[in-house]
This record gives sequence, structure tokens and C-alpha cells, in this order.
Amino acid sequence: VTDIRLALTGFGNVGRGVAQLLHDNEEEYRRSYGVRLLLSGVADRGGAAVSPDGLDPADLLRAKNEHGTVAAARGGQTGLAGGEFLDRTKAAVLLEGASTNFTDAEPGIGYALAALDRGMDVVLASKGALVLDFDRLMEQARRTARRILYSGTTGAPIPILELADRALVGVTIEALEGIVNATTNKILTEMADGASYEQGVRAAQDAGVAETDPTLDVDGWDAAAKAVILGRSLFHAPLTLDDVDRTGIRSITTAELEAAGAAGESYKLIARIWREGNGVRASVGPELRRANDALGRLSGTQMGVVFKTDLLGDVACTVQDTGGVPTALTVLRDVINLARERGWAR
Ligand SMILES: NC(=O)c1ccc[n+]([C@@H]2O[C@H](COP(=O)([O-])OP(=O)(O)OC[C@H]3O[C@@H](n4cnc5c(N)ncnc54)[C@H](OP(=O)(O)O)[C@@H]3O)[C@@H](O)[C@H]2O)c1
Repeated sequence: VTDIRLALTGFGNVGRGVAQLLHDNEEEYRRSYGVRLLLSGVADRGGAAVSPDGLDPADLLRAKNEHGTVAAARGGQTGLAGGEFLDRTKAAVLLEGASTNFTDAEPGIGYALAALDRGMDVVLASKGALVLDFDRLMEQARRTARRILYSGTTGAPIPILELADRALVGVTIEALEGIVNATTNKILTEMADGASYEQGVRAAQDAGVAETDPTLDVDGWDAAAKAVILGRSLFHAPLTLDDVDRTGIRSITTAELEAAGAAGESYKLIARIWREGNGVRASVGPELRRANDALGRLSGTQMGVVFKTDLLGDVACTVQDTGGVPTALTVLRDVINLARERGWAR
């Protein structure tokens, strides 16, 4: 059994999900993969807790719940952050799960680059750094001979990157379309059942899938960010957020959604990436889908994608459950796959 020390930034829905899974499934990870995953440091905005021997996930969750910060846990210290935090964790892998933005991508970009510089591999749940600085991150990873995995950023927990990377070898992906934002799908589903827009937003927040600031979801920014990351990863296209032809869901009314439902159709916020001429284009916008098509039938917080391929036709993959814990599962899936590449896990 190999010990793998993990440093975690962010202790919100995703970070707490990681702690919960490590608490619940420690034995399972050991038995199935031959590794002991130790959370050796966790940081939030209040500070950090550090112990190279492994923090107790239950104590971290209790401290966060009772005091609002992991700095109140055993091994905790207010104000501890950045490079000093990373150094003290002695971690092999950084899990970046803090809030993000598309203006300066902090704190994710700073943490990711600092971790690579320290010889750590990086697993990202936050998207900002990939959207704004994809090439710089990948170049830094090459230079330091480290890996950056980020399957949680493209519509977690759908295994989009893994499916493309492993299962579609030898196949050309002509286009990809998907429902990659659970918040908007939940809102549209609730509204099709008669709810107001505001009620729909609250339902998405209650389901734990809405971003802290739901405008990122409802105006299509989150889906556009995922399209950028997928365009860069799967189509090797230098897309930016500005290249994505983006429309959100704010202008769709409850009446329109109810009428579509009565006609056996539903509005879905579809992200699409496709080859055109020598280039690659991307869009995000509401589309009317037949209620029984691969994406049209996904309701509530379900998500999914369809790969349009040359040799296999449509390859679809959908998931039932989204939100913090399934995203945390995706983060730990990246950790295990990384550990396999490095020969630490079976
Ligand atoms: N929820 C999902 O389903 C999902 C899915 C895929 C990707 N993501 C991405 O994963 C990330 C986390 O999502 P979430 O739902 O867990 O968000 P969240 O519940 O809002 O939690 C965000 C966490 O980031 C922390 N944070 C903010 N600034 C920080 C800083 N400078 N240093 C350290 N920690 C900082 C916050 O600290 P405080 O607790 O002190 O405020 C909080 O713990 C986001 O980037 C999100 O876009 C989320």
C-alpha cells in the first residue's frame, strides 16, 4: 500500500465532498487500488489545516461546519496560504477546488503553477486557469515533467475526457454536443413543470449544483468555459471564451417551456463544438430537442454528451447525479488514474 499525500484548496461543496469520500471510502481505495490517500493539507479563505501524517476528514468537516473555516481544525492556522501552505503539506498532488473566475483565474492559477514548480502533480476542479491560461499551464507541466488532470472541469462527473482519450482512439471526433451545465438543466426542467425562473434557480441551489454566482450558469458562461476546455483538449483548437457564440436561458419563459413540453419537446442549453473548414467552432445556446432524443430526455440535474464520430456514429454518455459529491468522485478518479500512471496504484 502506497501513501499519497494530497493538498486541497477550497472546502466548499467539492472540497467537502472529497473529505467525505476519503472518510467513507478509505478502506475501499486501499483494497481496490493499493493506495492510502492522505489529506495532508486543506485551505479555505480563513486559513489552512496541515498535517503531513494526514488530517482527519471528520474533524475538518466538523470545524468547517461549526467555525466556518478549516483553520479551526486540528493542525489549523488562520491566514496560512499560498506557497507556504503547499510546502508544509509535503503533498505529491494538489487538488484545486476553490471558487474561480474568468478574469484572473485566481486563486487556481497561482496554486497550480506554484504546485508544478514544487514538483507536485495537479488535479483541477476549478476552470478559470484552464480557460484563461491553458497553454501556459500545459507548458509548465511539460517543463516540470508533472501532470495536470482536470476531468472535473468539463461537466463532472461525465467521463468526457476519459472516454475520448481511451475509448475513441483511432476515431475522429467530428463534433461534440452536450448538456454540460446541471444548473440550467434543472431550472429549465422546473420551469417546464410550471415553476418561475426564480423558483428554478432556488431548486438548482437546493440541489447543490448552482455556482455561487448563478449568472455564470444562466448566462452560459460555465458551459462556454467547458466548451473552451473541451475544444482545446479534444480538438486542439486555441479557443477562448470570446470565440464561443453564447446565449443563456434568461429569455425563455415558463409559458414557452410548457408549450414545448405539450408538443413532446423541451428546451435544453446545448454546448456544441464542431469542425468547420480548417477550424473549430463552439457555441452555447438553448435549443428545442425532441423529448426522447439522447440529450432531450435528460431532465433535472442529469447531464450528458454525444460525440459525433466518423467510424462509430453517435457515441453518447449520460449521468444521473451531479453536484459536489459526484464532482469530488471525479477529482479522486483523476488522483487514482494519475497514481496508476506513476506506478503508485494498481
Ligand atoms: N459544485 C459542482 O458541482 C462543481 C462541479 C465542477 C467544478 N466545480 C468547480 O469547483 C470549484 C469549487 O466548487 P464548489 O461548488 O465547491 O464551490 P463553493 O462551494 O463555492 O466553495 C468554494 C471554496 O473555495 C474557497 N476559496 C475561495 N477563495 C479561496 C482562496 N483564495 N484560497 C482558498 N480557498 C478559497 C472557499 O472558501 P470559504 O469556504 O472560506 O469561503 C470555499 O471553500 C469551483 O471552481 C467550481 O467552479 C464545481
